[in-house]
Parts: sequence; C-alpha cells; structure tokens
Amino acid sequence: MQFNTKIFPQADLQSAKLQKSSLKLLLSHSTNCLVLGYSQADFDGFSGAKGAKTKVGFLSELDQFLDGSVNHANVVGDLDSKQASICMLRAEKAWAVNGVKAKRVLLVCLGDIHLASERTLTIFSKVARAALKALSGGSIENALWFTPSFALSHNADFIAEEVRLIVQYAGDQAYCFGVRQPTMKFKAKDKADKFKNLVFAGNNACAKELKAAVEQGVAMVEGMHLAKDLGNLPPNICTPTYLGKIAQGLSKKTGLQVEVLGLKQIEALGMGAFLSVAKGSETPPQFIVMRHQGGKTGEAPIVLVGKGITFDAGGISLKPGEAMDEMKYDMCGAASVIGTMYSVSLMKLKKNVIGVVPTCENMPSGRASRPGDIVKSMSGQTIEILNTDAEGRLILCDALTYVERFKPAAVIDVATLTGACIIALGHVHSGLFSDDEGLVNELTKAGHASLDTVWRLPLDAAYHEQLKSNFADVANIGGRPAGSVTAACFLSRFTEQYKWAHLDIAGTAWKNGAAKGSTGRPVPLLVNFLLERK
Ligand code: BES
Ligand code: MN
Ligand code: ZN
Repeated sequence: MQFNTKIFPQADLQSAKLQKSSLKLLLSHSTNCLVLGYSQADFDGFSGAKGAKTKVGFLSELDQFLDGSVNHANVVGDLDSKQASICMLRAEKAWAVNGVKAKRVLLVCLGDIHLASERTLTIFSKVARAALKALSGGSIENALWFTPSFALSHNADFIAEEVRLIVQYAGDQAYCFGVRQPTMKFKAKDKADKFKNLVFAGNNACAKELKAAVEQGVAMVEGMHLAKDLGNLPPNICTPTYLGKIAQGLSKKTGLQVEVLGLKQIEALGMGAFLSVAKGSETPPQFIVMRHQGGKTGEAPIVLVGKGITFDAGGISLKPGEAMDEMKYDMCGAASVIGTMYSVSLMKLKKNVIGVVPTCENMPSGRASRPGDIVKSMSGQTIEILNTDAEGRLILCDALTYVERFKPAAVIDVATLTGACIIALGHVHSGLFSDDEGLVNELTKAGHASLDTVWRLPLDAAYHEQLKSNFADVANIGGRPAGSVTAACFLSRFTEQYKWAHLDIAGTAWKNGAAKGSTGRPVPLLVNFLLERK
C-alpha cells in the first residue's frame, strides 16, 4: 500500500463552499476514484429537503459535471444524509465530455457537522472506515481523497490527525501475513488487495501538515506491520534469538543503535528473576536495547519496555492445553516496542527514545523453576515464585531496574500480562496503570487520537497486601481477586526511581477465533503518545 499527497493550491476548503473551479481541477485529475465528503447541509441543499426549492451547494455543482449522476443516485435512493453512508458513482460517457478523468466518484456523508459534538475523531473514523471499505476488495487500484472536504474542523492540526488515522486504517487493512511471509504459506491463497495507492489531495491551507501526517502515518503502519508479523510468526521461528536478530537488522536499515545482551551478560547484571524464567528452556534468553537519538544529547529519554515471552507454556505451573498455541502471542509487548522503535526511527522523531526487551521462553523442564523457589531480582528484592505461570512480571521487574541507568523522563512497559485483564476490559481497551496523572492524561489522549484506547485501573497501596510472602520480600502472585491490579502492583515495586505507566495488552494484542491474528496494538497509541509529547 502506497500513500502520496497532491496539492491543488487554489482548491477551497469546505465541501459546502467547494467552487466550480476547484471541482473542475479535482475531477480532471485522472484516478480510479475521487473521494469526496459531504455534510447533511450539502445533502439538504441538493435534495430539496428542509424546503429548499432550488438546488444549491457543491453536490449540485458536482451533478453538472457528472451529467446528472448525483441526481440519479438521489432519485433511486442511493444518496443519503445518514452519517457514514456512501454512494459510488461510476463514469458514464457524458462525464468525459465535461473533462472528467475520474473513473468513479465516491461520496461519503459526514453527517450534521454543524454540531460540535459531531466533529470528533471517533465520528470521523466511522466515516473514514466506511469509505475505505468501499475502496478496497474490488477492482479499484488507486484513489484521490480530497482531504479538505472531510475536514470536520478546518484546523490544519485536526486534518493531520484525520489523515494519520486514515493511513493507519488503510495500511492496517492491507496487512496480509501470507504475502509478507511467503515462506510460511507455500500455496499462497492470500492475495494482496488490488487497492494499492491512496493519494491525499489538499490545498495550500493544509499542504505542510498533510505531507507530514502522511509520512508519520506511513512510518506508523510500518511499525504496526512489523509488530503483527512478529506476533503472528510461530514460536519455533520467532525465538528470543530471532527477536534479537530482527532488532539488529533494523539498526542496519535505520539510525537505531541496537545492543543485544546474551546469557553471560544477563547473569553478570544479576537479573535473577529474569533468569529464573529463562532457565526452563533450551533456548537462551536475550536482552535487547534499542536507542533512537533524535533529541538533544543529554535530554532525558522516554523508555519503552516490552514483555518478550516467545512462548508461555506456564512452566511447571503448566497451562491447560486449550488454545495454548495463542501463547506464541506472549511477546506482543516486545513486538509493539520493536515496532514503535522502527516507526520512530523512520519518522526521524526529534526525541530520545529507548526500547528495552527482555525475551525468553517459559517452559516446563527438569531445569525449570519450581513453585516455592525464591530468587533474587536485580533490585536486590527477593521474590517467592508461587506460580511459575506469573512469569511476565519476573522478566519485566529486572528490565525495569535495568532502565534506571537511563535516567528516563518516563518509562512505559507493555505486556500481555494477565488473563484477568481480559475479564476486566475484554478486547476493547488496554489496561492502564499509573500514579502519574500527567502520563495517564497523555496516554488516554493518544489512545483516543489513534482509536487504540486505554482504560485506567487502580494501583492503590491496599492491593499490595495480597503480595505478602512469609519467606521473601514479595510473592509473585496475589490470588484471584484483582489479578491485573496485583500484577501491576508487583511491577510498581521496581519503578520508584522514575515516572512510570504500565499497559496490560492481554485482551488487545491479538484476535482469536476465525480472525486469529495480531492487531499491532498498541503501536498506534505509543506512536501518537510520542508524537504529541511536548
Ligand atoms: N501471558 C499470560 C497472561 C495471558 C493469558 C494473556 C491469556 C493473554 C491470554 C501470563 O503470563 C499468565 O499466565 N498470567 C497468569 C497469572 C496468574 C498465574 C497469577 C494468568 O493470567 O492466569
Ligand atoms: Mn504465564
Ligand atoms: Zn505470559
């Protein structure tokens, strides 16, 4: 999928005011499909609803160029004023006579955008999704999207957010595992969609923002696709060593500085909790550090930490067999951190960002940790392992201690940490845990902007009671009540040196059932958070 921009300097901004001359410019551009947004007011002016006798507004101007096609669509009932309704007009002979080069015109209804409550990104996404659905899956190969006609607010920054969202959706929709990993599906039934090129048309009022937004959106999609690939790859291929190699590969493609620590170095750092999980597997653990130096030297970095369990069998506290294959997705936190680092480096973000990934398998074996074992974390705190299946927190706690050395501006960890988070929030929001109101606000906002949303859950002192151990500083489980909260509380004991937030993505990182596959979340959230952060 390719995204480009095309600026028509004189074209005016709002669909209602779109003048004949601007329409002519757009229509004479050759494309498989010109995509235009219209409001309820445009519809009323055209259809004679609300008592208007003469046809006014841009739909009637358009109708003249299209030789009555708009009117015809209205007469047969294909044109509507319902939000997100679409109407596809196909070229007829008479169009060409008027100099129209577009083969189709897709009209998309924005609804009643006079109301402030209707001018939100959530509404826009509904409209954009309907339009993209109409463009893909058929014979349309390219489209020209006239961005100003979709502007719910005529503010260049808002337009940029809208465009980023369209690129995110369209890019996401175009993802195909079989096409990206041809060695995995030999009889590649999966064919890439024909719809390959989306051009955002703009005018002088939004030219700069449009170009930047497309570039940022494209970089985000690259990161999401990488995260999806890593999640979807089978656990016999996507091992800790593989993740390390992928990270190192990125440093060759981009400006990322990547360091991968092996077993000996992890031992030397004293990461007893991380090692206690890794030791049950034949596959050695890796500790990946990726740096993006886009800000000033010495500027405090944002640090992202991702859980990288490439397969979670549960260890000696073995999981039941049903759907155990899905535990290959237990490295989706790591995948999203690697994907986000890739995005950040592609968009040359002017900030310092560090991605850290502790990665290993959680397997049962004669060398695996037992329930009852006590291990010493890098922080010095001892941990009684009461359930070897609560392994994510064990590998993360050492990574959280490790990152103190970066004197971070903030640390965000991302993990498929608890099944309990799926019970609490389902597959809609990721769980957000933080005592820092600033971080909570920024992440919540970034979630809305990318429709990759979070919901805050508590971290109160009272829950820490559940983690008490008679034999060590802390236990690794807190019983069934509030399982996601006690997991987050466990992590918080290792984050006292900096501002910290934890994202539990157990319910949002992948889909199960017939649509089984990685979602690429929370790459959009993290990329938006980093972009918007001052
Ligand atoms: N990776 C799992 C959490 C998980 C389970 C995510 C299912 C998505 C779907 C994690 O390592 C785990 O096993 N957690 C346990 C914790 C419990 C033993 C306290 C859980 O959620 O059951
Ligand atoms: Mn587990
Ligand atoms: Zn796990």
